[in-house]
Amino acid sequence: MRILLLTHSFNSLTQRLFTELRAQKHTVSVEFDISDAVTEEAVALFRPDLVLAPFLKRAIPASVWSRHLCLVVHPGVEGDRGPSALDWALQQGLSRWGVTVLQAQAEMDAGPVWASENFDLPSARKSSVYRREVTEAAVRCVALAVQRVQSGDFTPRTVPGQAHVPMAQNHRRIDWQADPTAVVLAKLRAADGVPGVADTLFGQPCHLFDAWPEAELRGTPGDVLVRRETAILRATCDAAVWIGHVKRPGGFKLPTTLAFPEASALPESTLTPWLKAGSPTWQDIAYTESDGVGFLDFEFYNGAMSTAQCQRLQQAVVWAATQPTGVIVLRGGADFWSNGIHLNTIEAAASPSDESWANIVAMDDLTEAILRCETHYTVAALRGGAGAGGCFLARAADLVWVRDGTVLNPHYKNMGNLYGSELWTYLLPKRVGTAGAHAIMRNRLPMTAADAVRTGLYDRCLPSAGFDAEVMLRAQALAKSCQLASLLSDKAAMRRTDEAAKPLASYRHEELREMQRNFYGFDASYHVARHHFVRRSPQSWTPRHLALHRELDWKIPA
Ligand code: COA
Repeated sequence: MRILLLTHSFNSLTQRLFTELRAQKHTVSVEFDISDAVTEEAVALFRPDLVLAPFLKRAIPASVWSRHLCLVVHPGVEGDRGPSALDWALQQGLSRWGVTVLQAQAEMDAGPVWASENFDLPSARKSSVYRREVTEAAVRCVALAVQRVQSGDFTPRTVPGQAHVPMAQNHRRIDWQADPTAVVLAKLRAADGVPGVADTLFGQPCHLFDAWPEAELRGTPGDVLVRRETAILRATCDAAVWIGHVKRPGGFKLPTTLAFPEASALPESTLTPWLKAGSPTWQDIAYTESDGVGFLDFEFYNGAMSTAQCQRLQQAVVWAATQPTGVIVLRGGADFWSNGIHLNTIEAAASPSDESWANIVAMDDLTEAILRCETHYTVAALRGGAGAGGCFLARAADLVWVRDGTVLNPHYKNMGNLYGSELWTYLLPKRVGTAGAHAIMRNRLPMTAADAVRTGLYDRCLPSAGFDAEVMLRAQALAKSCQLASLLSDKAAMRRTDEAAKPLASYRHEELREMQRNFYGFDASYHVARHHFVRRSPQSWTPRHLALHRELDWKIPA
């Protein structure tokens, strides 16, 4: 089928559906929902069998839905209608929620249902539920709906329903004197990553994001108690919550201690370095050990890794390599493994060029620390997605295992034609050959986990269900294996041979020379792209590599 994805942006769900539908051999093109006229033009050019809307902020024009079959992915159960569907479900603490694929018609979300699926709703951030539970259910619902469209003998049902009001900031407001921690967390999670909860900190307005429970520290409700790295702790009436990120008026999302210099006056609450705390708290880097394996979790918000985070993670990796284990598993965060250098902290810096440089140097130091580790076998286990430099950082490990369903974006070009570093010029050709490396870097499209393994970029795609347990079993088996010693000596020997052929320092120097041009040169494309990315500027056109129907050689199907 020819399927047109009509979407507000190429967000995580759209990327996943794009890769899945293409893997099922459909011809898929994308048009961003910019205006009715542009949508009408896209439909006229592409003549789709089906228009699929995974993520829209406004209605599909009647001129399109009245002439073409248009299916909308609604992140709600059958009968649920209107915006803020997931926000309401999370804030109300519902235990089950769902996804419905319905046909577009005049009344929003009221059209006949082509497929639906319900799931257990975890107490997690909205952005996380969207990327995991909603996306998995949506992929299955869309596959079923497409199959039903193709079969031609399915009659969708119209179900009764009720529209809820859009969730406004007055519904989200936190009463720090009266709301118990569970309610505070539910409100903050229902608002993450957009729009956040409007509040004040240090007497100034801001929106709050990235909340974590605290089990031990207490204080006067509403007071800001302590800071830890980039987060601050605020007391509730029965405990306290950590706030990791905030957005100040007119600004963009930043780590709280960076957005509010006032936070530096707060007392510091530290943890035993790297070891995972025994009770719930905010901890961005946490080490645990099990049967000869050291696990490093790095829960960096949105997978963005600032200069300081790269430096601290490098210290943690070096420290983990001194422990009496045989294998180190780099587990990243639950939603993202890594999305490369931290574009928001760079944007906020006095000199974004200098901060970009510092960040990429710290990233390269971390890459080298993983790559040069000779005491342990290293595994990057990708539970969540990875983008740009994050994809190549993972490749510095000896093995990369990736969860089925994970979306990867192993390219830099979308960020203003960045050349990229993280030693990709050394790491990639070794796995996929020179032509393969160039193909990956040229391709601006997302890649499935299965494709990453098929092309040789990564080593193994493991089932989504039970991924963590499977990683643990495999890593423990590796640590116990009688082959571990020879694996370690082989990798040391390979490193020496490669170093003799061309030192890592040369690869790094060549990459950084290009990056220097990106950061300081006459072409400011990277700075412009970053400016729009961190401010989430609306799209003004669909990039050519997504819109097949706008290719110069596109032929209108007969
Ligand atoms: N620095 C700072 N923030 C980042 C980030 C980065 N490198 N990568 C992602 N984010 C943030 C986004 O701003 C967004 O923030 P929000 O919570 O305000 O919405 C959030 O992470 C999710 O990103 P989004 O783009 O909505 O997710 P996605 O799943 O649709 O797309 C990527 C994933 C990786 C394709 C996309 O985020 C991306 O291109 N990131 C930039 C990668 C990059 O160029 N890194 C620098 C070069 S190494």
